[in-house]
Amino acid sequence: MYRSRLGHDLGDITLEYVSSLNADSEIILFDILGSQAHVLMLQENKIIAKNDAKKILKALESLKNEKINSNSNAEDIHELIETLVIKKAGMTSGGKMHTARSRNDQVALDIRMKIRHDINILCNCLLDLIEALVSLADNHQKTIMPLYTHLQQAQAGLFSHYLLAHSDALFRDFERLFDGYVRVNQSPLGAGPVGGTSIPIDRHSTAMMLGFGGIVENSIDATSTRDFVAEYIGIIAILMTNLSKIAEDFVLWSTSEFSFIELSDEFTSPSSVMPQKKNPDILELTRGKTSEIIGNLTGILSTLKGLSTGYGRDLQQINSSIWSASKNSISALLILKPMLLTLQVNEKQMKKAADSSYIISLDIAEKLVQREIPFRTAHKITGSLVQQAHYSKKPLNKLTTNEIKKSLEGTKVDPKIISELLKSTTIISSLKDRISFGSSGYAEQKRMIKDRIKKINNYRTNITKQENEISIALENLSEKISKIIK
Ligand code: ARG
Repeated sequence: MYRSRLGHDLGDITLEYVSSLNADSEIILFDILGSQAHVLMLQENKIIAKNDAKKILKALESLKNEKINSNSNAEDIHELIETLVIKKAGMTSGGKMHTARSRNDQVALDIRMKIRHDINILCNCLLDLIEALVSLADNHQKTIMPLYTHLQQAQAGLFSHYLLAHSDALFRDFERLFDGYVRVNQSPLGAGPVGGTSIPIDRHSTAMMLGFGGIVENSIDATSTRDFVAEYIGIIAILMTNLSKIAEDFVLWSTSEFSFIELSDEFTSPSSVMPQKKNPDILELTRGKTSEIIGNLTGILSTLKGLSTGYGRDLQQINSSIWSASKNSISALLILKPMLLTLQVNEKQMKKAADSSYIISLDIAEKLVQREIPFRTAHKITGSLVQQAHYSKKPLNKLTTNEIKKSLEGTKVDPKIISELLKSTTIISSLKDRISFGSSGYAEQKRMIKDRIKKINNYRTNITKQENEISIALENLSEKISKIIK
């Protein structure tokens, strides 16, 4: 339809190469809504007559309920929709729809509407998952587990603390999405191909009709930037990295060697040949899809860094990776929540693992510090006690007086004190004594859980408000349209 100065049509292979119609299926509704706001604005500003607007709006409205056939000569959804509108409304009216806009501001608008829609979904899914983590934490405030550094047992801790750590990371993902939303939710519509238009349009009015928080003012910037896409995919890549870390822990913990958890059958896959298998494929796919999204981000940044200012068709190529990153991250969140809530936690095994090592060594050293022994000396003494216990293959509280004395050589510390300390220090006593802010001690769990529940509720209110801003604007738009086309 656009080939006014071009003599030949595209051949089939070329058309397929150029066309974004398949990927554009994700933005059909946004494209229609954007066109409707644009046409209303043209009519309200007397750029097109009411009767023309009526016919176009009617055609667009009917397209909302039609399955748009992607088998066409159009290069993309914008061309196809305009063609269909002209078919329905006639050239005299329908031919006026594309007045004072370009596909360049149009596609930027559609992408922004799609991303802001997906951000709201992601934010809700994130809060649901965080809520699941916090409620599981609430049930596991007494579940002892080893905490690891270098994947070596480090300190005794609580499963609730582990779960809260991930909920805090996901809160940050939520905050990044919520903050990024402001930069996405700006309308580029009316920027034209790159330099604006001589027709007296009102960009603020279309932005308001579509529920945007503002406009991308500079028409060059509005049509050529995709930094908001890079930001969005960057945020998703970080979010997925956080989920991937949980996935990796759970893959490891569901091995027979660890046996800390057992996944519910509905979140595992069998083997085609080994009848006994219960594989954590879903978690592995979270890791795999994370890699793919990191690849998407790299692809997007590579496209943007070399593009001369102004729209270039290269930009079309990044769209499908936005849709797939959205879809994969939303699914990952939706799946992880019920997976968590149906997880079997093997508390005995976690405790056994914690008991089998010298995990309370630091707690013992800190008790010495409380007796005014310098930390470095306490570290040395405790390290030596662990060495003795390790060589004689026994727990610290089974060390003999002689062994203790050996560890104290060169110090003035009374072996009786140490012997008492070793007898009285247990994982449970250590977790009672662990009172520092944000620590894995018993007392901190209750406080953190209460605080995080409050935070979830606050964030829910914010996200509902954000969603309402769009739905109210779109309801008003729809009312305006109904009045004209009735
Ligand atoms: N399908 C195109 C895209 O997704 C729409 C914009 C085309 N603009 C142009 N000047 N060729 O980017």
